[in-house]
Amino acid sequence: MFITFEGIEGAGKTTQVKRLHAFLINNGYESIMTREPGGTRIGGHIRSILLDPQNSDMEPLTELLLYTADRAQHINEIIKPALSSNKAILCDRYFDATLVYQGVTRGLNTGLIKKLHETIFNNLKPDITFLLDLAPELGLQRAWNDINNGSRKNHETRFENENSAFHEKIRTGYLELAHSEPGRFRIIDASKDQDHIYQDIIESLIEGNSLLQRV
Ligand code: TMP
Repeated sequence: MFITFEGIEGAGKTTQVKRLHAFLINNGYESIMTREPGGTRIGGHIRSILLDPQNSDMEPLTELLLYTADRAQHINEIIKPALSSNKAILCDRYFDATLVYQGVTRGLNTGLIKKLHETIFNNLKPDITFLLDLAPELGLQRAWNDINNGSRKNHETRFENENSAFHEKIRTGYLELAHSEPGRFRIIDASKDQDHIYQDIIESLIEGNSLLQRV
């Protein structure tokens, strides 16, 4: 089972990935936590380039190709082996982020981005995607609190530095994507506190499907 978490900055994805991982392990499932960009050693180097606030002059196409390079390494090194051994994969961001950030927001052709994913990654998609949705003002406030209190790295702020119109576009882009694929997406209200968000995720995962049995 391949589960991804998406949302604007400060939505709380990383916390919820860790909590769901603990839930699955405690219930006897094999689970791995990973992320994009930076789920592999090589991806870690690519992540530093992508999120460095000094690289504010990066071309959108450069950005797209670096995220795609990170994904190539990640799919082959982590995701495919985990899928073959029937583990649950909990991934903090994946391809939907490329569609929304590089497509909708940076203005690259979403048809091209989809075609690229189909051609080089055989259109590998998650079984379930949790979209942690909240207002950008709240998300950014949380993200900057984490950066200022040291729980997030202050040299990875290239996207947090973007203006509020950028983050509003990201939110809308994600919501539109979620509505276009209702079978895969679960929209979670991420303005709630961490415990409520966690409960909503667990309920949504268990509710009305047998996916947990397939792990
Ligand atoms: P995060 O790990 O803190 O979520 O940071 C990753 C950043 O990279 C976040 O701002 C979203 C962005 N991103 C893209 O622009 N495109 C992508 O394909 C992915 C995976 C992330």
